[in-house]
Amino acid sequence: MNRLCILTAILAFLSLCTPSSSSYASYQSPVKAAYWPSYSADSHPASSINSALFTHLFYAFADLNSSTYQVQPPSYDDGSLIGGFSSAVRKTNKKVKTLISIGGGSSDWRTFSAMASGPPSRQSFIDSSIALARKYNFDGLDLDWEFPQSSTDMANLGTLFSEWRSRANKESAQSGLPPLLLTAAVYYASALKVGNGPAYPINYIAKNLNWVNIMAFDYHGGWEPNKTGEHTALYDPNSNISTNFGVGSWLKGGLPSNQAVLGLAMYGRSWILKNTSDTGIGAAAVGAGIDDGTPFYYQIVDLINSTNATVVYDETSASVFTYSDTMWIGFDDPRSISTKVAFLKNRGLLGYFFWTASFDYKWSLATAASQALT
Ligand SMILES: *[C@@H]1O[C@H](CO)[C@@H](O)[C@H](O)[C@H]1NC(C)=O
Ligand SMILES: *[C@@H]1O[C@H](CO)[C@@H](O)[C@H](O)[C@H]1NC(C)=O
Ligand SMILES: *[C@@H]1O[C@H](CO)[C@@H](O)[C@H](O)[C@H]1NC(C)=O
Ligand SMILES: *[C@@H]1O[C@H](CO)[C@@H](O)[C@H](O)[C@H]1NC(C)=O
Ligand SMILES: *[C@@H]1O[C@H](CO)[C@@H](O)[C@H](O)[C@H]1NC(C)=O
Ligand SMILES: *[C@@H]1O[C@H](CO)[C@@H](O)[C@H](O)[C@H]1NC(C)=O
Repeated sequence: MNRLCILTAILAFLSLCTPSSSSYASYQSPVKAAYWPSYSADSHPASSINSALFTHLFYAFADLNSSTYQVQPPSYDDGSLIGGFSSAVRKTNKKVKTLISIGGGSSDWRTFSAMASGPPSRQSFIDSSIALARKYNFDGLDLDWEFPQSSTDMANLGTLFSEWRSRANKESAQSGLPPLLLTAAVYYASALKVGNGPAYPINYIAKNLNWVNIMAFDYHGGWEPNKTGEHTALYDPNSNISTNFGVGSWLKGGLPSNQAVLGLAMYGRSWILKNTSDTGIGAAAVGAGIDDGTPFYYQIVDLINSTNATVVYDETSASVFTYSDTMWIGFDDPRSISTKVAFLKNRGLLGYFFWTASFDYKWSLATAASQALT
């Protein structure tokens, strides 16, 4: 044990330091997080993130190698993006914590399923992820497996979380560094298929992870080409596809509220209207719309201005939609973001994360969320 380690141990004992490894539920500082897609580095470098608005920033995404089950930087990153991330974002906020997120929506769930299914492949994932985080000065790791498909996958995921935490604690004891934060990005509900499929291993999450990032978005999109929808609906009187239902299912399932972080979207979902006079939520459409069906918030602001579009705040879903001619976009603006943050405060959740830090318009959504939380 070196001197730093002893000091860390004393501070941890006095609870003045980072949370102790056995009591994640007592970790109460609000989380104001965002993911940074490293593929956007050319137009939105990490150094352009206004880190003062965030407590945690996630590098997205490291890959899981399908033959070695080791975690590695994505193919387009020779190590300079992941290696420069932590120092770049700490320039404007020394205290901001950084995490490497592994996987993401376009990774292959089969690789994760195979990795989690046996001890050697789990160990390969665990050891390589911890090594990568330490090599590049990150404070934690985030697993974004989209999605476990079966109850076997869910059971293996629980085992993985338990082994990951145990190995991270051992590494902390050996290195004298604070234990790595461990988090996971999860489906909006605690069980797949709108709450009717295999359920997440909530006990293992509560025991081993600092928190989960609940992906409360993509409820509707161009894959439902024939009608418009709000992809971040807080409430939906006609279905269980809403944030209120999803968060409720996590809490009902036993996830401590202070281990739940709510996802907020800095992008919309667009359609082409069938009839320019039928413009509401659920209006007839003929397919996905502008910007490949997924305009970013800064693009939406520009589109509204350049087309003089109508903007409507929908009280029911606590979301916004805009239309002009055949263009229709459902999205969040500063007002609906503030409503969603008020909701998460009311439920006692730990905080929020944005997908992504690269899609804001002059930091207006990140600022609205931050102000609403405090
Ligand atoms: C996976 O790892 C192997 C062994 O290090 C390497 O040869 C291969 O290129 C990696 N695969 C990918 C897709 O990076
Ligand atoms: C959308 O409408 C087209 C044309 O009416 C129809 O063929 C298709 O099945 C519909 N798609 C969905 C997902 O309902
Ligand atoms: C919504 O979920 C509840 C509780 O899981 C269930 O009883 C109900 O049938 C669901 N409603 C719909 C429309 O699926
Ligand atoms: C378009 O929508 C308007 C308003 O709902 C309706 O009155 C009109 O008949 C619709 N036109 C067509 C061609 O369906
Ligand atoms: C809105 O559009 C006008 C005309 O194209 C432009 O001059 C103005 O700068 C735009 N405003 C914003 C906030 O983008
Ligand atoms: C934008 O809409 C307003 C109100 O409908 C109208 O007065 C104005 O002329 C429109 N501007 C443009 C550039 O279309």
